[in-house]
Amino acid sequence: MLILGIETSCDETAAAVAEKGSSSNTRSAVSVVSSFLTSSRDSHARTGGIIPEVAARRQIESIIPVIKTALSPIKSPIDAIAVTYGPGLIGSLLVGVETAKTLSMVWNKPLIPVNHLIGHLYANFIGHSGSKTDRTPQFPFVGLVVSGGHTDFVLMKEHGKVKYLGGTRDDAAGEAFDKTARLIGLPYPGGPEIAQAAESYLSQELNLLPRPMLDSGDLDTSFSGLKTAVARYIEQNPGFDKNLLAAQIQEAIVDTLVTKSQKAVEKYHPKSFLLAGGVSANQRLREKILSALRDKTEVFIPEVEHSTDNAAMVAAAALYNYNPVPWRKLTASPSLSIEE
Ligand code: KG4
Ligand code: ZN
Repeated sequence: MLILGIETSCDETAAAVAEKGSSSNTRSAVSVVSSFLTSSRDSHARTGGIIPEVAARRQIESIIPVIKTALSPIKSPIDAIAVTYGPGLIGSLLVGVETAKTLSMVWNKPLIPVNHLIGHLYANFIGHSGSKTDRTPQFPFVGLVVSGGHTDFVLMKEHGKVKYLGGTRDDAAGEAFDKTARLIGLPYPGGPEIAQAAESYLSQELNLLPRPMLDSGDLDTSFSGLKTAVARYIEQNPGFDKNLLAAQIQEAIVDTLVTKSQKAVEKYHPKSFLLAGGVSANQRLREKILSALRDKTEVFIPEVEHSTDNAAMVAAAALYNYNPVPWRKLTASPSLSIEE
């Protein structure tokens, strides 16, 4: 089965075609036949954050060329269309959802709605290029989705069965990167900028900033205090070293996520642990999660291109959760939760 995935929840306009490997092997991974995306990130870098109207306008301009490009190498007809219908920015989501509905109607193909956060988790079901093992996560698994708007721990016992375990009480992990980057004068999106600035300081002791809620006994996190602590530090140290502060910020966020992930694994004893979402592109987080958890469970982390927003993950989620809806019934849902 060939599925066309469409993703337009934020500032990426993405389309991909994916299929599942041999059905005789229940652990066979999704293979990406074609994938293409464009981003309006550059225009947001200039304004220091996303302007939803600008993102939506760029989605409208890009959606048809992006889908055409993703379909251009495909020789056989696709079998179904999958689209992100939430959560995300309403103007951006609408472009993907209405385009997918139109294609479903005119091509007479089934339409599968995908929750963006679940899509991120299914990036871990995509086969790694060059890997011979083609392994996929095993149930039950604990997943951690860390993106611009979410820090969500979930437990999944089978495809489609999602239990929320805990997450952010205020700012999401990606938001913490983006907001603190802005405070120290780095452009949007802050995550990759902070990671790059931090590089030469990684061997230092990096415990200047607070790691709240580490002993809260649950899987909740809070990152708004980090922003306040960084603002205070800048005020008290006008000549501060930007790169050192970036390393301190990254370490505080990574340590918090690693400690909570360890707690989740100790509590639920999952067969696999899945890291996902834009922040999972962070090299320091990838390394620390892997070394903290690899003795206790099988750890899955997407390839970097499938950590940040992409459409292959949307197609992958639909391949394992094939639940078509009539196109007339689908509407964008900006504040959809991970359990819906
Ligand atoms: O999943 P994603 O691409 O879009 C959303 O669904 O929000 O995540 C975007 C977030 C942004 O906050 C961005 O700063 C962060 O992921 N991010 C990173 C890195 N790459 C992207 N954070 C830390 N390190 C990175 N290398
Ligand atoms: Zn995302």
